[in-house]
Amino acid sequence: MGDRRDIESREDCERLVRAFYGRAMTDPHIGYLFTDVAKLDLEAHVPVITSFWETILLGARSYAGGAFAPHARLHLKSPMSPGHFDRWVVLWCATVDELFAGERAELAKAHARRVARAFSRRLQGLPVEQPTASGPLPLTRHGA
Ligand code: HEM
Ligand code: HEM
Repeated sequence: MGDRRDIESREDCERLVRAFYGRAMTDPHIGYLFTDVAKLDLEAHVPVITSFWETILLGARSYAGGAFAPHARLHLKSPMSPGHFDRWVVLWCATVDELFAGERAELAKAHARRVARAFSRRLQGLPVEQPTASGPLPLTRHGA
């Protein structure tokens, strides 16, 4: 597609973020984490995550930090595996490539990979309340 340009403005960041959540929230692998576990309020979340990307890509300083903590809380409710983060990155990179092309678009993909790797590593070191996502308590199986 020759008509793709680079990410230039906050509006571009928001467009990218909205397109990403359109995919992520309906994704068969990770959608439930947003919709069922976090019960994400998208309209409240979009400005925050738009600021995150505006800060990284455009130097806006509109995001104050502390991105890891909400993921640690989510992980306690429903464990997130490295595979979930891999899927997140695949959806993010596909969305970036579909809408934009250029240096900032490349940075958006590279930074997402770094953050995903860092979050995933940090979460694997945290305790979880239950070993599986199958229910509030692991079922005891009697007999065969
Ligand atoms: C213009 C340059 C950059 C900006 C504005 C930026 C911005 C950010 C922001 C806002 C976060 C979230 C931090 C938080 O919420 O606590 C973050 C996380 C992260 N960034 Fe960058 N970043 C930049 C460059 C880089 C570079 C060059 C690398 C590595 C080579 C990098 C690696 C990471 C990693 C690994 C995390 C996740 C840290 C964690 O919470 O475990 N960033 N970055
Ligand atoms: C499977 C992977 C992921 C899932 C399921 C997920 C889910 C979520 C959810 C549900 C929230 C909202 C939490 C709340 O407001 O209580 C959130 C916040 C956020 N996520 Fe993720 N996330 C994932 C990976 C990532 C990655 C890789 C990045 C960065 C590249 C990222 C960046 C952020 C940021 C910046 C926030 C806002 C934190 C704040 O309130 O300051 N997430 N995420």
